[in-house]
Order: sequence, then C-alpha cells, then structure tokens
Amino acid sequence: MFKTQYDYYFNLVEQYITGLVFNNDQLGSSMNYSLVGAGKRIRPVLALACIEIVGGQPKEFVREASSIELIHTYSLIHDDLPAMDDDDFRRGKPSNHKKFGEATAILAGDALLTYSFELLAQPLSTVSPEKQLRIIRETAQAAGWQGMVGGQALDTLGDALDCNLDAIQQVHKLKTGALLIASARIGAILGGGTEKEIDILTQYASLLGLAFQIKDDILDVIGQRDVIGKPVGSDERQQKATYPVLLGLEGAQRHLDETIAKAKETIQSFGEMNSFLLQLADYVADRNS
Ligand code: IPE
Ligand code: IPE
Ligand code: MG
Ligand code: MG
Ligand code: MG
Repeated sequence: MFKTQYDYYFNLVEQYITGLVFNNDQLGSSMNYSLVGAGKRIRPVLALACIEIVGGQPKEFVREASSIELIHTYSLIHDDLPAMDDDDFRRGKPSNHKKFGEATAILAGDALLTYSFELLAQPLSTVSPEKQLRIIRETAQAAGWQGMVGGQALDTLGDALDCNLDAIQQVHKLKTGALLIASARIGAILGGGTEKEIDILTQYASLLGLAFQIKDDILDVIGQRDVIGKPVGSDERQQKATYPVLLGLEGAQRHLDETIAKAKETIQSFGEMNSFLLQLADYVADRNS
C-alpha cells in the first residue's frame, strides 16, 4: 500500500521531469545527466503527499513539486565538486563534474536552480497570486543562505573537531531539513491547508529532514556504494562532523529512532489520513539507499 502510493507520486514526478527539454548541447546534456533517471524523489513525493493530506489534488501541482527536485539536484552537483565534498560518483554513475568538467557542472547547477524558479513562477489558475508568491518566497528562503546553502556553508567551512550535538543538529536541519520542510509547506499551502495544518507538517518535515541526514551519515559508514549510488566513507575522508562520529554508530541509530518516533507523533491529529506519512518516516529510517 505504501509502495503503491509512493510509486504513484514518484511516477507523476518522473513523467514530468522526463518531459523537460533542455538544449541538446553540453550544458543541457549535463543538466539532463544529473536530473533524469535516478534519485528517490523524496522531496516532490513529500510535497504531493502533503497536498493530499490537507485535501488537495496532487496531480494539479506536479510541476511545483518537481521544481524542488531541480533545486535538490543542483545541490548534489555542487556538493560533489572538488572544492566541496570532492566525490566522483553520484546516483550510480560518475559525478557531473567527472563527466562534463567542473565549469559545466557549476553552470548546470546554476541553470537547474534558476529554472526551478521559472517553473514555480508559471501562471497558476487555481491559486491566488499571494499564495503563489508565498510559495516562491519560502522556497527561495529554504534554498538559500537561511536554508540549504547556509547549512552547506556550516558543513563545509565549520570545524568538525569543535563540534557538539546542538551544532551538528543545526547543520543537518539546514543543509537537508530546509528543502524537506519547503516541500511539505509548499504541498500544504498549494493543497489549501490551514495555518495549523501547515505548521504541523512543518514540524513533521523538520524531524524527517534531521532523520534523513542522520541516516545518510550512517549509510556513509555502513552502506554499499553500488546500493547507495555514491561513495562510502566520504565523510570520514573529509573529516565531517556526523552523528556516527559524535555518538558512535549505535548512538546515531538510537538518535535516528527517537527522531522518527517524534516525527510520527507530530501528525497524529490527521487521523487515518496520516498513514502514508507515518510509513514515509519508517522508510527514511529503514532505507538502504
Ligand atoms: C542526498 O539526498 C543528499 C542529502 C541531502 C542527504 P538523497 O538521498 O535524497 O539523494 P537522491 O535524490 O535520492 O539521489
Ligand atoms: C549534502 O549532505 C546535503 C546537500 C545539501 C547536498 P551530504 O554531503 O552528506 O550528501 P551526500 O552524502 O553527498 O549525498
Ligand atoms: Mg556535503
Ligand atoms: Mg556530499
Ligand atoms: Mg552524506
């Protein structure tokens, strides 16, 4: 049942993304290379699920949900660059800069980021301009210096040896949590949710985002390269501050379980409608890719 619903959302996103047409040149090929044909698409899936849980129609807003995947893909391309994590494998194949060179990889990231806002700004007949502006503003905040980019700065420029639990939680909530929160909020807003519902889904996504990155850190230690589709041991090589470094693998796993339990508690008020989001939380904890 969970898988059927995930696949339903996933396929809507996949179909939309596959239909995007970029120029048939080096830049367009590089954008396509990282965007199409791989990735769990959890951010747009979360957005579509949040539309549905507040009573909206997911099919109506596949473009808006997918726009977050463009921002996420840009963040992955830049995250892998030599000046950042210096990883040469992503989504099961050579990283963008390995295939196309650093200059094109940087530009493909820039182009995906800006194009996502072009998509978000397309006219929407069933949504008021105020609501649409709110969505664009919130997405910009989540992607930029107050959100994902801010988290990447702390992650990249921070001193791993000087790290404590509060600091690392802050980094995780920004670099990974911010886009997941934006996905949930965009879904809840587009779906016509009340401010109370938007707030509850924000709390859920914040905990889900933290859990998602704790699991990512665990997989960087115990995952298999061919299953996760990216290198194992990257964090250790780059001396990153991670939950396994701070708490040990078992401590990190416990923290993950506690965070997932808290995430599930936040959505109790949705009653039976919450079943997909409950299972999505379990999926985040149990995933091996
Ligand atoms: C990886 O994200 C980077 C993080 C923010 C942890 P995902 O694990 O969602 O990667 P894809 O999109 O499935 O490739
Ligand atoms: C990345 O965190 C978060 C992003 C904003 C891309 P990581 O550096 O741990 O992500 P992976 O492990 O390379 O996918
Ligand atoms: Mg990184
Ligand atoms: Mg990385
Ligand atoms: Mg990682």
